[in-house]
Amino acid sequence: MIKEKVQNALNDQLNWELFSAYIYLAMAAYCESVNLPGFANWMKIQAQEEVSHAMKFYDFVSERGGRVTLAAIDAPPVEWDSPLAAFEHAYEHEQGVSERINKLVDLAVAESDHATNGFLQWFVTEQVEEEASVDEIIQKLKLVGKEGGGLFMLDRELSQRVFVPPAAEGAAGG
Ligand code: FEO
Repeated sequence: MIKEKVQNALNDQLNWELFSAYIYLAMAAYCESVNLPGFANWMKIQAQEEVSHAMKFYDFVSERGGRVTLAAIDAPPVEWDSPLAAFEHAYEHEQGVSERINKLVDLAVAESDHATNGFLQWFVTEQVEEEASVDEIIQKLKLVGKEGGGLFMLDRELSQRVFVPPAAEGAAGG
């Protein structure tokens, strides 16, 4: 049985993952509005990933005999100044998520909740990847600048991204 304090913190993170999905979906809509369907595709896949992260928290709380409770999801922004600004926002957001995951690990350790600590390790690793993949696109966007041809090529590259459910990645902790 999970302690209430840990359960509440995990429910809070479940909400934050859905908020993350909302942000990426808003970024997808922004990318569509500036005629960058490949960028929009990347953002939509990212939103799907965030929902799958939320579901990991849902399933874990449930499996541990806890109670999943859902709170209101904050509204995301609507506009960004440029695709670069959107990705910079995404990077900042992911750094915040990493910090939240680290705090959850601290809580699990403080409460001697080894199962929760083990569960969270998947997210610790995942956040390294999340930050790196966003940063990679930021670097490419900086190289390309406002040059239309480069932006078109990058848009085509990002259109190739497909959703891979976490369980199919062979990762632990699911
Ligand atoms: Fe679920 Fe992008 O962190």
